[in-house]
Parts: sequence; structure tokens; C-alpha cells
Amino acid sequence: MGEHSTLVVAIINQKGGVGKTTTAVNLATAVAAVGKKVLLLDIDPQGNATTGFGMPKGRRLQSSYGVLLGLVDPQEVIRETYVHGLFMIPSTIDLSAAEVELFGQKDRDSKLKQAIAHLSFDYIFIDCPPGFGFININALNAAGKIIIPLQCEFYALEGLAQLFSTIQSVRNTINKNLIVSGILLTMFDRRNSLSYVVATDVRTHFKELVFDTVIPRNVRISEASSHGKPVVLYDVKSSGAMSYIELAREFLAREQNA
Ligand SMILES: Nc1ncnc2c1ncn2[C@@H]1O[C@H](COP(=O)(O)OP(=O)(O)O)[C@@H](O)[C@H]1O
Ligand SMILES: [Mg+2]
Repeated sequence: MGEHSTLVVAIINQKGGVGKTTTAVNLATAVAAVGKKVLLLDIDPQGNATTGFGMPKGRRLQSSYGVLLGLVDPQEVIRETYVHGLFMIPSTIDLSAAEVELFGQKDRDSKLKQAIAHLSFDYIFIDCPPGFGFININALNAAGKIIIPLQCEFYALEGLAQLFSTIQSVRNTINKNLIVSGILLTMFDRRNSLSYVVATDVRTHFKELVFDTVIPRNVRISEASSHGKPVVLYDVKSSGAMSYIELAREFLAREQNA
């Protein structure tokens, strides 16, 4: 009673380059913009969400590395961003060592869950690395919900079966309440008929699990990240920004009705 309830949302897909970081950064920004208190947690050693936010990469203990390994109080690591209501835990390249370091620990699946359990936010969005290592198992254990960005390309569906079987085994073992918030179609190219084929296929298989919002391929998105800004701040009128704002609206509406 009285405990603030925080929804932890992992943005995950074992494939790289499908729009995880772009989705994490822009969804977190757009949700903060409607007045929610949001934490963006970067647990990818590449640190693209960290630099995509114009933030210098931290040092080991001032980053998600220290949080994940339980070496530091997350409160001491949280940084303010220039977006009102949006906070961040940055990543460092050191985090790549965490995979190996976690391996030797008996509670290696629940380190992140324990570390962030007492944080008080409306939403924590986790930008996950590719693959199915211990870092991602920690994210799936810490999360209440997941969002799966799916690039509209030929092999998109191939990896999805493997991802869903991983989700199921996480449910069977460490996190029985894990829910898929939605699959997000990204990099949709309306001049490419393959995009339509993939989108139709995914909707046929996964039905209402797929967000109505589709993220188009939009050059402003890649420009924005090279300027250290989410596209929703870099060019709010671009198709990329407008679609992420729409996604935030749809995501929040789904949460209200959940
Ligand atoms: N809708 C889009 N249109 C154009 N470029 C995009 C789009 N989404 C992502 N990108 C670009 O594609 C690359 C990979 O996206 P990213 O979000 O980093 O994927 P991931 O985190 O899954 O590896 C980045 O350079 C990013 O700027
Ligand atoms: Mg990424």
C-alpha cells in the first residue's frame, strides 16, 4: 500500500539494427513529454541510447554496469536529461564484461530485478543489447512487459519464434508474469512492396499483439541520433517523430486498459 508502482518495459529483439534503441529513446521521451516520470536504462554495452541522448558514456560504477552487478546504489547513478521528467542510467563498454562476471554468480538471473526494485518511476524503459545473454535474461526477469521492434524485412519473422520460445521459458522459470505489450513494425518502407508483405504476415500471425502504429523508414531518425537527440526533439514534424508520438499514445492507452 502506498508503494509507487513502476512498470518496467524491456525493448528487446535478439537481432541488432531493428530499431530497439531508437524505440527506447523516442518512446521514453514521448512518454515523459505527457507528464510521466520515466527512466531510460541503457544496458547495451554499445551505449547507443546513452550517446543517442548526447550523454558522455559513464565510468564503470556510474553506469548500468555497477547497477547490474549490484555494486552501486542505482539512485547514485541516475542522471537527469534535458527532457523534463526523463532520467537515465547510461551504459559503458565495460558492460560487455558483465556477461562473464554474471555467469559466476548464483543469483545471476535476478541481479537487475533486485537492483531496480525500489526505484520509483511511472515507467522504466530498458534498451536491451542483441542476443540472449545473461544481460537480457536479467532484463526479461526485471520486466513486467516487453516491446518487440521488428524490422519490415524478409527475415523478420525468422527470429521471432526463437524470441517467443525464450519468453516462454522465462515465464516457466523466473518471471511468470511477463507480458508482451506489443510487436512494433519498424523501418516500414512504403515504396517497397516487401514491407507490406511482411507487415501483413506479422499481423496475420500475431493479430492484436501488433501495435497499430507503424514506424516508417525516415532519414530524420538516423540524422537525429548522429546529433545526440531523439527524433521527437530533433524534428517533431518528421514522419519518424510523429509515428513515435503516436506509438506513445497507443502504448499508454493499452496500459490504461490493461
Ligand atoms: N525508422 C527508421 N528509419 C530510418 N533509420 C532508422 C529507423 N529506425 C532506426 N534507424 C537507424 O537504424 C540504425 C539501427 O537502429 P537502432 O535503433 O540502433 O537498432 P538496434 O538498437 O535494434 O540495434 C540506427 O542507425 C538508426 O538511426
Ligand atoms: Mg541498440
